[in-house]
Amino acid sequence: MSVLVTGGAGYIGSHTVAELVAAGESVVVVDNLQTGHRGAVLEAFNVPFYNCDIRDTKQLVTIMNDHAVDTVIHFAADSLVGESVTNPLKYYDDNVAATGKLLQAMVEAGVLRIVFSSTAAVYGKPSRVPISEADAKQPENPYGETKLAIERMFHWTHRAHGLSSISLRYFNAAGAHGSLPIGEDHRPESHLIPIILQVALGQRPHIQVFGDDYETPDGTCIRDYIHVMDLASAHRLAVRYLREHDAGVNAFNLGNGNGFSVNEVIEVARTVTGHPIPAQVAPRRAGDPPQLIADSSQAQQVLGWTPVRRDLATIISDAWKWHSSHPNGYDDSTR
Ligand code: UFG
Repeated sequence: MSVLVTGGAGYIGSHTVAELVAAGESVVVVDNLQTGHRGAVLEAFNVPFYNCDIRDTKQLVTIMNDHAVDTVIHFAADSLVGESVTNPLKYYDDNVAATGKLLQAMVEAGVLRIVFSSTAAVYGKPSRVPISEADAKQPENPYGETKLAIERMFHWTHRAHGLSSISLRYFNAAGAHGSLPIGEDHRPESHLIPIILQVALGQRPHIQVFGDDYETPDGTCIRDYIHVMDLASAHRLAVRYLREHDAGVNAFNLGNGNGFSVNEVIEVARTVTGHPIPAQVAPRRAGDPPQLIADSSQAQQVLGWTPVRRDLATIISDAWKWHSSHPNGYDDSTR
């Protein structure tokens, strides 16, 4: 019995592989390395790896059969909000159509459990915080729209084929493993914490604060930062839940329930790194809601999930360990 992880060479995927391996699970990774890094699988653990696109139904069925896969965790996707606005059809193809192919392979191989990497972007601009799973879903960009479309796909594949699913809607994933040499490496990088740490490394002159005139206490946007290893443990628990229950179709928010403003994050990073990290106020970034905070009580009650690395200084300090020891990210010459 093993778990197939699509996109296992990506940021959250590789940390989840680490979590599963540490828990004694047998894991197989599929990644087409469009944005993932071979080093994220190679450097950390010795698991079977296939450089394969999830649209390759035939190969996927073979892999599932060869490794006695019983559950899939599906990360493989495009995930840049800005790119999704300028190139929506890429997102419909790589996210929605490709997931359709993956589900086809699963049905063919008789693998009927999936844990899906979803996002807070399915909610769009929330009418209230903290956000609960049943709140209105009005994505403001094709990234969130395609993730929501995939969640909807699970309703119909459950009805037709008995496929059970758990969609995990992450808020702001951050941090790094802390002891294994894996961490965040997006190219281009757009996320706040890695960019702040690039300033601390001297790779950028300053951090741009996108807007200081929001209706928040210090005028900068508030987000719910959640440690990537806490996300990883939720995936492990979701696999267990699907194995132990006739689970149907589920979706859970994953966040800490605490919000930090951009200015607060910069301040904590100054303390953690000992670097002054100069900041400059810049115009608002299009589509940024002022506040995103998760109500994750459902995941805690149903999955028994408890985030344990909740402190922002811990999250930033684990990220800093990775970025300061790998200032240029993974060495992709082995791709
Ligand atoms: N920010 C800056 N300067 C930067 C980068 C970011 O001020 O250089 C700000 C943003 O404006 C935002 C906050 O820092 O207010 C966090 O931005 P990120 O880009 O790190 O994260 P987002 O909240 O925009 O995005 C996250 C996930 C997405 C997901 C989205 C849901 O990374 O995958 O939440 O809305 F789609």
